[in-house]
Amino acid sequence: MEHMRQRIVAGNWKMNKTLDEAMELAIDLQERQDDFPPEVTVILAPPSLYLLGLEMIEEPCFLMAAQNCSHHQYGAFTGEISAAMLQAMRIKYCIIGHSERREYFHETDELIAKKIDACLLDNIAPIFCCGEKKEERVAKKHFVTVMHQLEKSLFHLRPEQMVKMIIAYEPVWAIGTGLTASTDEAQEMHAFIRKTLAGHFGETIAEKIPILYGGSVSPTNSAALFACPDVDGGLVGGASLKARDFISIIKSAGIQ
Ligand code: PGA
Repeated sequence: MEHMRQRIVAGNWKMNKTLDEAMELAIDLQERQDDFPPEVTVILAPPSLYLLGLEMIEEPCFLMAAQNCSHHQYGAFTGEISAAMLQAMRIKYCIIGHSERREYFHETDELIAKKIDACLLDNIAPIFCCGEKKEERVAKKHFVTVMHQLEKSLFHLRPEQMVKMIIAYEPVWAIGTGLTASTDEAQEMHAFIRKTLAGHFGETIAEKIPILYGGSVSPTNSAALFACPDVDGGLVGGASLKARDFISIIKSAGIQ
């Protein structure tokens, strides 16, 4: 079946790179942009400090995402950045609910729901991350875990808000480990996510939402993953830090 949904490859740089290295990587991507399939939207999520520097690149071949934002609109919240601040810098997306934030910064589904609301209020499209831990998969609780994450963080949205969402399925056991979900495991979960969204928001909306796969995506596995009918691209960590690898992943996301 031909993919009708937006194809997206997003690079999550996490807490990596100096400003010089960040600019060098962005410029390398710029120079190779003719190789990018036109139907693929490329998103970079650098550390927030660099958003402004990258924003100065003329006619960039990528859009930008923050890796996190506050659920508050403004005020005395030392160290935080609001969605309104991102919006004012023409940032289009924000990763919300990444498993590292859930684990190391104790973000709950409820807090994540508030962050999504804050983003949507300021016209930032959230890239909402969900996914089970290893022990949940071993106990065969992966579907119920992901279903609860979707319910608690997304089911309160109105349909016109939901259509702005991007979802990233990132099994926690696959992040940064070199272990990737098989194409069958990825497709099965992506189809389940879409079915769950269809049950609540209706088929038309569910069919429009891009669902990205994340977790040790590499130039060797990306083409097979992106060929799955419900996988609309990837959220790439480690491999997005090297221009050559990231470009090869972007190329593999083109409609075959
Ligand atoms: P990884 O990270 O590609 O290094 O596994 C993915 C992510 O955390 O978004």
